[in-house]
Amino acid sequence: MSVMYIRGGRPLEGELAVHGAKNSVLPILAACLLAKGPVTLNNCPRLTDVAAALGILRRLGCRVEQEGHTIVVDPTGASGCSISEEQMRSMRSSIIFLGPLLARAGEAHLSYPGGCELGPRPIDLHLSALRAMGCEVREEQGIHCLGRPKGGEVQLSIPSVGATENAMLCAVGASGPTTITNAAREPEIGDLQSFLNSLGAGVRGAGSSTITVEGGRCLSGGEYTVMGDRIVAATLLSAAASAGGTVRLRGVDWRHLATVLSVFHQAGCRVESKLEYVELFRDGSVPLRGAPTVRTAPYPGFPTDAQAPVMAALAASQGCTLFVETIFDSRYRHVPELIRMGADITTEGRVALVRGVERLHGARVEATDLRGGGALAAAALGAEGTTVLSGLNHIDRGYEGLEEMLRLLGADVERREA
Ligand code: UD1
Repeated sequence: MSVMYIRGGRPLEGELAVHGAKNSVLPILAACLLAKGPVTLNNCPRLTDVAAALGILRRLGCRVEQEGHTIVVDPTGASGCSISEEQMRSMRSSIIFLGPLLARAGEAHLSYPGGCELGPRPIDLHLSALRAMGCEVREEQGIHCLGRPKGGEVQLSIPSVGATENAMLCAVGASGPTTITNAAREPEIGDLQSFLNSLGAGVRGAGSSTITVEGGRCLSGGEYTVMGDRIVAATLLSAAASAGGTVRLRGVDWRHLATVLSVFHQAGCRVESKLEYVELFRDGSVPLRGAPTVRTAPYPGFPTDAQAPVMAALAASQGCTLFVETIFDSRYRHVPELIRMGADITTEGRVALVRGVERLHGARVEATDLRGGGALAAAALGAEGTTVLSGLNHIDRGYEGLEEMLRLLGADVERREA
């Protein structure tokens, strides 16, 4: 087991390009099943979740090559229509393969993706979307779907990101048109639309609540560059807010981070948002202020994935900040760990009250979920003394070389075998 040693108290200084977005590349890899030729994807982060997605594609019969940050998927020989239980468990978002698999093979057999460290993660909306497109869905010791999608009217009761993407992917392979209403508006859905259209699909409306898909078009192979990861950016900005200093990030669109930047601005950081970069400056000798209530919400609201890192930065501040988590049930698992570092936080259900303390101190802490792990690293950089962070398997699901990124910004961080 490896652990990260983080010695806090050094301001961060520097510039880096944020790697490709996990939440973009996963649905895009699943979408490759719809292509009729090889697809080259650039800016793919090297993450364990990406490796899990490549494993699924290989098992389905795709030829997959990975070199650096480029992945080539050739789906020409793919003939499989089932995903093993082990593979479904290896990554929560493996359910995203259901729509494209069904569109390609007219048949799909999967087990449930299982529980999740964020609380129950139902898939009812994914399944009802497929039913609305004319597929037969049976739930008997797993999920069994039959029939080629015809298209139809998909009405989502919640703007679920995964269900929106699954519906889009199934609809692209459908024989007729589909309209998705109350669609999620996250930027990664826009990236998926751009990718699909670059292969010849007819998808419109991503970024709004109504997405239309023509269906019936043949998708070619092609080449595409995945967008930068706004949550990795939010984590690095949280680290800078926690440790002090100036961090400039390239490769992300600041508009996708507007709600996060606004919290840091109100907490006393200076934020510069340009077309080419976003920069955060915090004078380490001046404490952060508490911020107005941070309420997570579907995009364009404050991202649930940035809640933990931002909370970590505000744990050491002058004043209080109230957090309200509206998306997932169990998204405060980083709180007991922050408390071990000296934070004063109380939670009740979906609400957390952070009473800022003067400074956190180093401790032995464990990441129990991906973004909680990023949060603990951010907290440790502003803390006094050394933090030993375990549970790196969670961090490696979504941050490529977190310790290297932080070292590039001048942090004193190393990964060692425990
Ligand atoms: C995606 C992101 C994840 C992010 C989340 C919310 C990926 C790979 N993951 O997850 O990082 O935290 O969006 O921004 O993109 N729900 C149902 N029934 C369903 C599906 C979802 O009730 O069939 C509920 C969920 O329990 C949750 C809410 O809808 O309360 C939003 O979840 P959803 O948007 O689907 O999240 P994911 O796509 O799983």
